[in-house]
Amino acid sequence: MIFVLTGAGLSAESGLGTFRDEGGLWSRYDLADVATPEGFARDPARVHAFYNARRANCRAAEPNAAHLALAGLEAALGDRVEIVTQNVDDLHARAGSRRVIAMHGHLMQALCHACAARWPAPETMSPEDSCPRCGATATRPDVVWFGEFPHHMERIEAALARASRFVAIGTSGSVYPAAGFVAEAQRRGIPTLELNLERTGSSALFDETREGPATRVVPAWVEEMLATA
Ligand code: OAD
Repeated sequence: MIFVLTGAGLSAESGLGTFRDEGGLWSRYDLADVATPEGFARDPARVHAFYNARRANCRAAEPNAAHLALAGLEAALGDRVEIVTQNVDDLHARAGSRRVIAMHGHLMQALCHACAARWPAPETMSPEDSCPRCGATATRPDVVWFGEFPHHMERIEAALARASRFVAIGTSGSVYPAAGFVAEAQRRGIPTLELNLERTGSSALFDETREGPATRVVPAWVEEMLATA
């Protein structure tokens, strides 16, 4: 089974900003203000404004050739491929992938902090929004913030334990636990491949790095996988 970990670089050519590249989101916004529970408690309107803008970008974006190639890989291999994404956009799903594990949540969903109801996020969310189920005004974007636990870790660990190949696409390898998956794969002795615009701080942990834009290197790699499957 091929374990595929994806990050912001996969969606960069769809027009969605990455976090740590030059001009990336974390150079323009303070992560502590917009991506932590404490930041949300301090100023929920600012946090909603940040995610409202990201949601608008996401609505306007289209899946690119790399998302489509990964959907094609899943269509051909079924459960012999497992895609785990750190991305909160919905571009994997819109490209046709069906079995994606979204470990950092969903930008296009709202979450009630009081009763854990989830529903499609309206275009503009605000601190006054009330939950359609319990009525509490405790609505937040359904994304994982720093200091919170990523989703589906048991499923992800189980998939890593079954994997015979590990591939990381468009991720800088800076945020744990996802950043630790390659070391886990290496401990298990399976081949590890990094597909990224350029080498990253984690490249030394991979057997191989292929540099280039995702829309070029991902379809080429998928073709190779399909030829040998
Ligand atoms: P980063 O912004 O840290 O890294 C993006 C990576 O994509 C970099 O290594 C870039 O070189 C690469 N890249 C940029 N454009 C590319 C392209 N066209 N093709 C291929 N690669 C490209 O994003 P992530 O690693 O996804 O978490 O960040 C991980 C987490 O940190 C995010 O999920 C988010 C963020 O803070 C939370 O908000 C919890």
